[in-house]
Amino acid sequence: MDYRLNSTKSYHVYELGTLGWELTVCNALYPPQTPIRKILLHDDSYGHFLYDYLSRLVPMADIRKVLEIGGGYGYLMKDFLDRNSSLRPCMLDISPFLLQRQKETLEGHDIFYREEDFLETDPAVLTGFDLAVLNENLGDFPTLVNLSEEFFEPPAQVIDPNLKRALDLFERYNFERPAQGLFNFNIGAIEALEKICASGVPYVYLGEHSCEAAVPGHLQSMIHVDSKGSPERISLKGHDEYTIKMSYLEKIAHTFHYTSVRGPFADFIPVDFTDRLRFILASQGRYGDEDEMICQFVEDLYKYEYLVLAKQ
Ligand SMILES: C[S@@+](CC[C@H](N)C(=O)[O-])C[C@H]1O[C@@H](n2cnc3c(N)ncnc32)[C@H](O)[C@@H]1O
Repeated sequence: MDYRLNSTKSYHVYELGTLGWELTVCNALYPPQTPIRKILLHDDSYGHFLYDYLSRLVPMADIRKVLEIGGGYGYLMKDFLDRNSSLRPCMLDISPFLLQRQKETLEGHDIFYREEDFLETDPAVLTGFDLAVLNENLGDFPTLVNLSEEFFEPPAQVIDPNLKRALDLFERYNFERPAQGLFNFNIGAIEALEKICASGVPYVYLGEHSCEAAVPGHLQSMIHVDSKGSPERISLKGHDEYTIKMSYLEKIAHTFHYTSVRGPFADFIPVDFTDRLRFILASQGRYGDEDEMICQFVEDLYKYEYLVLAKQ
């Protein structure tokens, strides 16, 4: 079996000097002047939209200790602190460059910072947090690539510890096996969520590019999202990341007795489908750079899924 483990670690630790190449939904919405905000039902930033949505599902006024893993430029947490100044955040990131950017964005706030790979974080560190936030980072976590059916019929002695762990995960969570052919497995994302759920953090928000996303029927003529159901490679500057099989993550959460709410980012970033926007989408943004950006953004609102998990 010609498989490999995709890792973005050395890119994040030694090479990353900007997130500009991978414009996240959060960063795209951050500049107040961005044309993207004009297509929304109201003009606001990602972290504000998310905080307001989470307030419907989580007692946000009672949340104090919040752990954000992979906070990028720190914009989401800045927005959360605007909404709730009694939050006591801890920002954990593998990238020294981004951690420095977070310190600049969040200057003046009482924040704890940890520079580490979350997969190596001591689980004891998670004790006492009320909420964990993972926004658009699980696709960066290690992925086993090009597995085949042979994976499920290992020789008596499985040598590679990554394969052994992946097989154990399939068994432990009774994951549905992929249909025939080669497939990729988000082992890092799964182990990260398993660590969080095992530690009993009461609330978890995660959002990422999903390989199982779907557009509601009434929008399918305008918004095109082609989900393969199995994690797919996205090539970015200096590294590859993989889309996430959300149903596996949901299964882990349920095993640890969390309830889950799942949906597209469009649930909390409401779009105003005016005639002009419908035209831009129908023409696939081909009449200008701004239209192309808008088209891409609206598609992303349906390609990206979130899970809000609450411990029962
Ligand atoms: C694509 S950026 C997303 C940034 C931000 N959350 C946003 O939505 O704009 C991914 C983030 O995850 C961090 N990251 C990637 N792998 C990580 C790991 N193993 N442990 C901790 N942080 C990690 C990166 O350094 C970066 O901050």
